[in-house]
Amino acid sequence: MAQCYCRWRNVLICLCTPCIILALVIAYIYAMVTLSMHSSRSVRPGSTLAAPFFVASGLLKSENFSSIPETFWDTHANKNSIWNYLQTVTDRQFNPILHLNNTKKKFKHESFLKESFSELNGLHRNYKGLPLQLHYFLRSMHRRDYTTVLQPDRVCGAGGNDDTEQVLLLLAIKSKESNFKNRQAIRQTWGQVGWVAGERRNSTSEDENGGYVRRIFLLGKEEHEKLGIADYELLQMESLYYGDILQWDFKDTFFNLTLKDVLFWKWFSQLCSQTLFVFKGDDDVFVNTQKMIRYLHDQLRAPQVKETIKEFMVGEVITTAVPDRVNKSKYYIPEVFYKGLYPTYAGGGGVVYSGLLTQRLYDMSKRVHLFPIDDVYVGMCMVRLNAHPIHHPAFLTFDFPGKEEQQPCAYHSILLVHKRSPEQVVKLWDQLKRTQEQCRDVPLRVLRQKPKL
Ligand SMILES: *[C@@H]1O[C@H](CO)[C@@H](O)[C@H](O)[C@H]1NC(C)=O
Ligand SMILES: *[C@@H]1O[C@H](CO)[C@@H](O)[C@H](O)[C@H]1NC(C)=O
Ligand SMILES: *[C@@H]1O[C@H](CO)[C@@H](O)[C@H](O)[C@H]1NC(C)=O
Ligand SMILES: *[C@@H]1O[C@H](CO)[C@@H](O)[C@H](O)[C@H]1NC(C)=O
Ligand SMILES: *[C@@H]1O[C@H](CO)[C@@H](O)[C@H](O)[C@H]1NC(C)=O
Repeated sequence: MAQCYCRWRNVLICLCTPCIILALVIAYIYAMVTLSMHSSRSVRPGSTLAAPFFVASGLLKSENFSSIPETFWDTHANKNSIWNYLQTVTDRQFNPILHLNNTKKKFKHESFLKESFSELNGLHRNYKGLPLQLHYFLRSMHRRDYTTVLQPDRVCGAGGNDDTEQVLLLLAIKSKESNFKNRQAIRQTWGQVGWVAGERRNSTSEDENGGYVRRIFLLGKEEHEKLGIADYELLQMESLYYGDILQWDFKDTFFNLTLKDVLFWKWFSQLCSQTLFVFKGDDDVFVNTQKMIRYLHDQLRAPQVKETIKEFMVGEVITTAVPDRVNKSKYYIPEVFYKGLYPTYAGGGGVVYSGLLTQRLYDMSKRVHLFPIDDVYVGMCMVRLNAHPIHHPAFLTFDFPGKEEQQPCAYHSILLVHKRSPEQVVKLWDQLKRTQEQCRDVPLRVLRQKPKL
């Protein structure tokens, strides 16, 4: 009886030992894979600047953004859409399991972006049916090395005489050579630089929270037929007089706007390390700068600001947007170019983000192919940083709803409204000053009804 029991025990040991060893090996591999994925997501300790927080495909738990394949080994995904395909190839290059070295610093990101194009050429595509602007975009999509034509003299925009002063807000405004009137209206009104007083909390409190503000206009080059010689000379004089022009040598078209983001981030990373916040927007918006300064001070007083500031972005947030498939539209993106939903993004008419996030966006942009629609591109970089823009109802990139604008203190309850002509901007600024006393305690807009999901 005892012998029989012993024999069974040996059989059990023979059968179970390999199983247990196998289970241990699997557990070990799983732990190593998870660790290596997570190590590439963590923030470098001991440095003030957060490392790019790369989300490898297969790790992202968002059903709302389908352009990142669900599994990193799925190489056949999206072969029929140019952008998705290029990005899949690039994402694989940065996958910490396949190429651990690539996720570390000190290597040439740009060369990886370029390499993915060579794979695309192997597919022998026919781009003939594409609309002209997309055709131009594709032909220059690999380029970011445009030279700077005009720039302020080694300072972070106009508005400071003391470079050691910490800048609260840098206004980075997308403009065009011919939009002189817009720039002038902004300079005289909401875009004034130097020390700008924020709005007082209330009539009794003494605390004044202002901050240093700087300004820069972001421009490409317009076609010469549209632009007279006088326009160009005027721009050079503006640059000399105001020191707020940053111009690059690329064609200033709608599909090239993303270049303004990427090249601005680069310039910012080199010259503006002391800047706390960036406003990036169009030159046909109206901004309530005083309210904005107060709002930003409130953010700086929030608990855990050291953590949240690394991914702070606020604006009018658009969720579950789909590419425009109407072929006459300005925003038309056919399926052969991009497939899937757009990521959650903040409308490009006007958005505010932190200086720390700007530098992280710049690092991330070296791993993300240019996309023709600028605010969507910023959203794509945000997804890969695992950062989420905050929605604020006081950003009205689609103007006031209904008759709200006619209320006497309407403009005191907003941070930004699109779109306003230079003449309107000047008038509104006057009106804002005149009604200062009467509208002093008007709070920022809040959502009246539930947001649409
Ligand atoms: C996806 O979108 C829905 C609706 O817009 C939203 O409620 C949900 O939080 C989003 N999911 C993720 C993971 O972002
Ligand atoms: C990774 O980088 C290290 C040093 O930087 C080098 O010695 C090693 O060969 C690299 N490994 C691969 C797989 O490229
Ligand atoms: C004014 O602000 C102070 C502090 O900022 C606050 O304690 C006080 O309650 C406020 N008064 C009114 C009338 O809101
Ligand atoms: C963007 O600018 C480059 C350089 O000027 C130009 O070659 C390209 O056609 C432009 N792209 C679009 C979409 O206009
Ligand atoms: C746009 O769509 C219409 C109808 O769907 C089609 O007839 C036309 O050829 C398309 N134009 C382009 C440039 O693709």
